Amino acid sequence: MDKKVTVIGAGNVGATAAQRLAEKQLCDVVLVDIVEGVPQGKALDLNEAAPIEKHDSHLTGTNSYEDSAGSDIVIITAGIPRKPGMSRDDLISTNAGIVKSVTQEVASRSPEAILIIVSNPLDAMCHVAFDTCGFPKERVIGMAGVLDSARFRAFISMELNVSVENTHAFVLGGHGDTMVPLPRYSTVAGIPITELLAQDRIDALVERTRNGGAEIVSLLKTGSAYYAPASAAVEMAESILKDKKKILPCAAYLQGEYGCQDLFIGVPVKLGSKGVEDIIEITLTDEEKQALQKSAAAVQELKDLLKTLG
Ligand code: NAI
Ligand code: 2OP
Repeated sequence: MDKKVTVIGAGNVGATAAQRLAEKQLCDVVLVDIVEGVPQGKALDLNEAAPIEKHDSHLTGTNSYEDSAGSDIVIITAGIPRKPGMSRDDLISTNAGIVKSVTQEVASRSPEAILIIVSNPLDAMCHVAFDTCGFPKERVIGMAGVLDSARFRAFISMELNVSVENTHAFVLGGHGDTMVPLPRYSTVAGIPITELLAQDRIDALVERTRNGGAEIVSLLKTGSAYYAPASAAVEMAESILKDKKKILPCAAYLQGEYGCQDLFIGVPVKLGSKGVEDIIEITLTDEEKQALQKSAAAVQELKDLLKTLG
């Protein structure tokens, strides 16, 4: 295939993302992990599924970054996931070291690539990757808003018993407890959910969305969600690879937009072949603005914490 995507981390999110990329025939996939045998085994297994799934995407599993050279996109999922009782922020010191070393390896071999960061705590890991790679801000993007919005959409469709295809939702802010679901901009067939649901039901869906990651962690017990996260990362990759210019909520580097300075946070962006091609500034009520500022303050705290980690 003429496009190449490298996925770093052949764990739950990485391997599932590799599977979805291949099954959608978007690109060839290179799956890299630090553990010997795991990326090779998973890539071979997926290649053996190809005749049944009818795709010609080729997967390479490897421990060597040489195989990643010349990638169009690199999706970084390497790191540890949270376990019950842990917040995403508890992962910061371990994952900052991993994301830094991985970014060094991929940036030197794929200097034109677009990086999609998945590792948690997401917004802080975007800062680590951005500071390490030296790429322009348009080419470092964090995956969180697409996942959080998909969860909100799923809950809306369950509540109203309507097709998920009719639902749209926006969740902005950092990927943490302060994320900002926006009911006014969340619709079913174009109708805002504020006209379809009572306030107490909207509040319940918003709360479930905020706790969406923790809900899965408490069920799985051994790790965190990966099917929906992988789908979300692949939707972003597809928009870039096909230059679809979808408007999606992603963590982008803000320089004044939404009143945030030099901060990665989730906002609506246009994703195309150049990466973040536009940041869409939507009108927020005072309450929504305050919620976004609170979320930005939480991300800023993590960014400051990164400095103390060295
Ligand atoms: P996992 O434990 O299944 O997989 C992580 C993989 O990274 C493992 O295979 C591990 O060997 C590999 N790895 C660790 N250090 C490495 C290194 N230096 N180089 C290459 N590979 C390395 O974890 P899972 O569930 O796939 O989650 C991965 C990360 O993504 C976690 O930090 C998790 O919190 C985060 N995540 C973020 C989401 C988001 O919305 N942004 C959603 C879901 C997960
Ligand atoms: C999630 O939201 C763990 O961040 C991950 O599921």
